[in-house]
Amino acid sequence: MNRINKCLFPVAGFGTRFLPVTKSTPKEMLPILTKPIIQYGVEEAMSAGLTNMAMVTNKYKQSIKKYFEPHAYIESSIKDTAIKSLLDEVNYISRRCDFTYIEQKERLGLGHAIYTAKPLIGNESFAVILPDDLCINNGNSVLAQMIELYNQHPDSCIVAIEEVPMSELHKYGVIDGELIENSIDTYRVNSMFEKLDPKDAPTNLAIIGRYILTPDIFNVLENTSPGKNGEIQITDALMILAKQGKVIAYKFQGTRYDCGSVKGVIEATSHLYSNS
Ligand code: G1P
Repeated sequence: MNRINKCLFPVAGFGTRFLPVTKSTPKEMLPILTKPIIQYGVEEAMSAGLTNMAMVTNKYKQSIKKYFEPHAYIESSIKDTAIKSLLDEVNYISRRCDFTYIEQKERLGLGHAIYTAKPLIGNESFAVILPDDLCINNGNSVLAQMIELYNQHPDSCIVAIEEVPMSELHKYGVIDGELIENSIDTYRVNSMFEKLDPKDAPTNLAIIGRYILTPDIFNVLENTSPGKNGEIQITDALMILAKQGKVIAYKFQGTRYDCGSVKGVIEATSHLYSNS
């Protein structure tokens, strides 16, 4: 079996929606309770059995790298105190996972960011988490659900989808497809489009920030021209593979919070606070 080992985090954006705080703090380091947003993504990848985290960053994001490294001074200063366990979760991540980083030198879109990671990924299928989409589950995490599906369809890419109100659809990639026989949540994708005017949208099935990609995607991305907003779009590259019957969309179980918006950060915080 073509096992998934690596999870890619495209985190090179500037988070301008969160200015001024993102002037010096990457948006992925903004806290939900006491953990940064990126940690929820890494924990989701670990819950799906992945321990190799590949980050596409920019040169202003050193704090993400630092965060996942041990901090000897703080550790020794809290070691005999009541708060000594507060670093346990992040230290567990640092011990268990390997982190690799590559810089995206130009801001040419999500497809370009994913292509930039090719040297970190190599010739294998891999997962992608956009940490802005924070997913919370009671059972298996969204990525674990997707890997289970991928294991049944190892030649296909998988995208996670959810139904969104038509008025929100312009923020997302959208898919059209046929339900796979005997399923209620899994579609064979026929077509997909990036950020359509809702009046042109074939469905309200929006792509959210979880993907399993086969290495074919790199060859396709190499030849993908800029699309919506002049950026190289992963949606356009996946459309090429969808035409070959190689993309599945999966309506995941769980709740997603859009932590690319202040409202989503507040909602995720409030949900986790009331359940802590
Ligand atoms: C990206 C993708 C889009 C997807 C979205 C999910 O858009 O291009 O297809 O629906 O993530 O969060 P972005 O949010 O980076 O504009």
